[in-house]
Amino acid sequence: HSASTVTKQKNCKVSGPHVSYFENEVRSSLKFQRTLVQTLPDGSVEAIPKELLYEFCTKLKPSKLGIMQVGWGGNNGSTVTAGIVANKEGISWETSKGMEKPNLFGSLSQHGTLRLGISSDGTDVFVPFKSLLPLVEPKDIVLGGWDISSLNLAEALDRAQILEPDLKRKLRPLLESMKPLPGIFDEEFIAENQLPRADNVIETKNKARQVEIIRQDIRKFKQLHNLDFVVVVWTANSERYSVELAGVNDTAESLLKAISSNHKEVSPSTLYAVASILEGCPYVNGSPQNTFVRGCIQLAEENQVFIVGDDFKSGQTKMKSVLVDYLVGSGMKVESMVTYNHLGNNDMFQLTDGEMWKPKSAAKSRVIEDIVSSNGTLYEKDEMPDHVVVVRYVSSYGDSKSDVSEYVTRTFMNCPYRTVMYNNCLDSALCAPLIIDLAIFIELFHRVSYRTSQMKDFAPMHPVLSALSFYMKIPRTPVGEPLVNALQRQRACIENLFRALVGLNGEDNLFLETKFP
Ligand code: NAI
Repeated sequence: HSASTVTKQKNCKVSGPHVSYFENEVRSSLKFQRTLVQTLPDGSVEAIPKELLYEFCTKLKPSKLGIMQVGWGGNNGSTVTAGIVANKEGISWETSKGMEKPNLFGSLSQHGTLRLGISSDGTDVFVPFKSLLPLVEPKDIVLGGWDISSLNLAEALDRAQILEPDLKRKLRPLLESMKPLPGIFDEEFIAENQLPRADNVIETKNKARQVEIIRQDIRKFKQLHNLDFVVVVWTANSERYSVELAGVNDTAESLLKAISSNHKEVSPSTLYAVASILEGCPYVNGSPQNTFVRGCIQLAEENQVFIVGDDFKSGQTKMKSVLVDYLVGSGMKVESMVTYNHLGNNDMFQLTDGEMWKPKSAAKSRVIEDIVSSNGTLYEKDEMPDHVVVVRYVSSYGDSKSDVSEYVTRTFMNCPYRTVMYNNCLDSALCAPLIIDLAIFIELFHRVSYRTSQMKDFAPMHPVLSALSFYMKIPRTPVGEPLVNALQRQRACIENLFRALVGLNGEDNLFLETKFP
């Protein structure tokens, strides 16, 4: 065997000098090596390895976790809810091919494995992420949220036209009582074609009052379900960009003032984010708009609350960040990428509005930037492949998203290498596991603190949680950290962080022991 996975044992413990397990926490240490690069006057570069000792402390007991989705009654919101409830209750359903059982495929926290090490007979041994460190179980997650549409979750699931009729029928009694709270509605930021569904909106137009109502909603939700920790996830429609203005949204102070004075450039999504941050709840921006204006990021930093953005990376963009990584990583020059999506869900319907499409188009276009810029032997500075993204609304497709793309690459002696790809999947089936993972991993990172040899006390991770870039089209990173789009680098970050928290070195795939026996 070249590989095996150990899934039987519940927990997997690491032994050795770099890790100690206590009743409530695990402590580990890691000598972290980074390489600083400086360009010398003659244009050559010098690489300087630097070593820093990190200590980590991870609390072992997961919190009681709530997820509040903004846009709970949408396709993603209702699919996440149906998936969690069907798994929790063990609901199977009948299809023309027979009975189907629920699962959470597509979720790294539930079905991701990482290579732990090698056994004496040379077998690579893999374990699930969740066997290294305890994670919240999806069945224990409590769901809630807001929607500007008043349908309860059973009705919303019907409207979404995603899951099978027998499953929807069985879920109906369990979802009927779930009713989204009224949402913040501002017709300035959403396409006109959404007006007919906006029958569940917070009545006041006063932005400070709206923030207060959302804060109260979060507090009540926590109290009602006795929750320790709530993550708020924006999975509502894409908004138009808000205009970033000095004195309005450039600092935390100006943003709070702009909210008090009802400034028109404070978007609903920023209001939800501000409310969450002030309640100490991490906020994920699953759409491409600039919710995280500078003032909002500063507010998160000041309050030490995690934020993750922007725009879920779920389908074609994920594929692009794999394919272009392979091509450019192999020394081939991608010359053009022409991609088409067509689908007919409500999200796409609202994106037919030009203003709403702008942020989405920008996010989709930028998902290969770091990969191309990493290879200056193929591309001149600022040169990018011809990249065209066409998206069309085709009502009859519903949530079923088809994408077709053609890549033209130059390989040896300029010979063209053409790749044509077709994908089809329900959009929300791609996205739902991402939402669940984000909340579960955020809850874990909330339990982590660290100290370097230069620090006296342990401190939490940086509030701009770039460790979850794997899930985002345009990842937000702390100042000074480069943005990474390449999917396998993003996954390696999560994997190596898990390893570090239990005192294991990062995965290097070297197998030095056999190559240099
Ligand atoms: P959807 O249109 O089915 O659901 C969005 C929901 O948000 C609707 O029920 C709507 O009534 C509600 N809503 C709109 N504005 C609101 C507000 N201000 N407050 C509260 N509720 C509000 O859309 P879907 O398919 O669920 O997608 C949700 C978001 O996720 C979209 O912004 C989309 O761009 C983003 N996204 C989705 C991906 C996927 O499904 N594969 C991938 C990447 C991003």
